[in-house]
Amino acid sequence: MQVLVWEDRFSVGIRQFDQHHKILFEMINSLIFAQEDKSDPNVIKNTMEQLRSYTLFHFVAEEAMMKHFGFDGLDEHIEEHEALLAHVISYQERIANNDGVTLEEVLEFLASWLMDHTLGLDQLYGPFLSRYSD
Ligand SMILES: [Fe+2]
Repeated sequence: MQVLVWEDRFSVGIRQFDQHHKILFEMINSLIFAQEDKSDPNVIKNTMEQLRSYTLFHFVAEEAMMKHFGFDGLDEHIEEHEALLAHVISYQERIANNDGVTLEEVLEFLASWLMDHTLGLDQLYGPFLSRYSD
């Protein structure tokens, strides 16, 4: 599986969120390496849990800033965040139940979701919020 490479087109124009997104890219890359290196399943499980918790922290930060400045795309954005979190929880359950889902499938989903979201909805708040930051 291809690792995620940060490019300028992913920038949302707000330094703290670009930094969060870069960290999320690297966390997914760590999982790709762990999978390829056939790391201990517990290492993979812990890294997945860190990714879930960092994602939650990042979503809360984005939503708080959009709310604070009255961005009118907030509800739609929250819906997309919640849909992702529901997917992550379901994947975690499926992995715990050994139902045949592969880490590769989970990582492909997470990587494409993160890129689509960063290039999609996240680009909408950028021009609005960057008027207030920096
Ligand atoms: Fe977002």
